[in-house]
Amino acid sequence: MRKTIIAANWKMNTLPKEGVEIAKKINNYLSGVELGLNKKVVLGVPFTHISKIMEVVDYKKIAIAAQNCSQYDFGAYTGEISAEMLKSLGVQYVILGHSERRLYFGETDEIIAQKLQQAYKNAIFPIFCCGETLQQREKGNHFNVVETQLINAFVKVDKFNFQRTVIAYEPVWAIGTGQNATPEQAQEMHVFIRKIISNFYGHEIANDISILYGGSVIANNARQIFKCEHIDGGLVGGASLKPDEFIQIIESA
Ligand code: PGA
Repeated sequence: MRKTIIAANWKMNTLPKEGVEIAKKINNYLSGVELGLNKKVVLGVPFTHISKIMEVVDYKKIAIAAQNCSQYDFGAYTGEISAEMLKSLGVQYVILGHSERRLYFGETDEIIAQKLQQAYKNAIFPIFCCGETLQQREKGNHFNVVETQLINAFVKVDKFNFQRTVIAYEPVWAIGTGQNATPEQAQEMHVFIRKIISNFYGHEIANDISILYGGSVIANNARQIFKCEHIDGGLVGGASLKPDEFIQIIESA
């Protein structure tokens, strides 16, 4: 049975103290609700916040995600953070392949594939992001682009590891722009992604994988997006920094 996941991506926002306050509010809310086994809340926080936030949240209700990890095991890579280091802190998820990392930090499909291997090796669930730019969509290339991203990422990933993956479809034109994909556009791509996964790994695995939608999810559009059959929750940027709004988004799923 696939899980519904509401994941926050705080990006490079908040100081640790502010982040702790946001996490506490979400934790307080969750302490009073029964999420059930099939619903998960994940907070993707900056590296500097991880330990502090772990101290104040109930790990049974909130999982912590890092927003990146190194493609290397360890060594002379100044400034990098390994998946093993994250694991040692108790991090359960890592966001990989986000379009901001692809665009601003030159992460290629090959680098992202290496990072995925690091996550699997350290038993961290990757939240793998894929999605097309506006130009690619306007040219009608969006399905090809997403298919290529998936093939390049998972070509060397076996069934066992793939089952531990979360996919996030995030059309680049919808990220931080206030212009979300319509539920129909998102659903159409999610169906396509599930079909590709099915070709790779079989119907059962494809059916079990959570595919999140990301890109300008807010309290006002979450319910409509999440009610689509193939959309299993969201990866939420801007709106996840406002705890009251993020709580509404959790309630919409
Ligand atoms: P947004 O960001 O919700 O602010 O559009 C989503 C993301 O980048 O994951």
